[in-house]
Amino acid sequence: MLKPYFLFLLTCLSSLFITGCEQVQDDAIRLEQARSLAPSNKDLNDIYQRSCVTCHANPDTQAPLTGDLIAWQPRIDKGMETLLTHVVNGFGGMPPFGMCMDCSAEEFEQLIEFMAQSK
Ligand code: HEC
Repeated sequence: MLKPYFLFLLTCLSSLFITGCEQVQDDAIRLEQARSLAPSNKDLNDIYQRSCVTCHANPDTQAPLTGDLIAWQPRIDKGMETLLTHVVNGFGGMPPFGMCMDCSAEEFEQLIEFMAQSK
């Protein structure tokens, strides 16, 4: 009488465990990808390496990771104007100017498009 319940519980537990593992694996792939991507333009890459990458390739900061299309889509949906305002003023855990005080609006736009891989 008890056996089916026990089996059910076991199945539930193991599927939970497997989902947990997949999640960990997905996170590792996303992080690997964020760390391996770099803007092809040298000047843009210089800016990226000294500012955005610090957080946008570090999951501990809660920043959407570079190349993580699922994380970036709802952000891109806000429209470029809004995103630029958020970068300039700071947004959530992101300090004003995303730590690039001398970046132009155009450079921010290119950096966003690069991180979201939307161009
Ligand atoms: C100190 C860490 C840090 C740095 C440096 C940083 N960001 Fe961010 N960024 C974040 C965090 C954290 C978020 C998520 C904020 C939230 O949703 O609460 C974020 C979100 C964003 C967003 C989405 C904003 C929105 O409205 O959803 C854009 C665009 C962005 N960052 C661009 C940049 C650019 C461009 C740079 C480099 C010039 C940069 N960030 C540097 C931490 C950082």
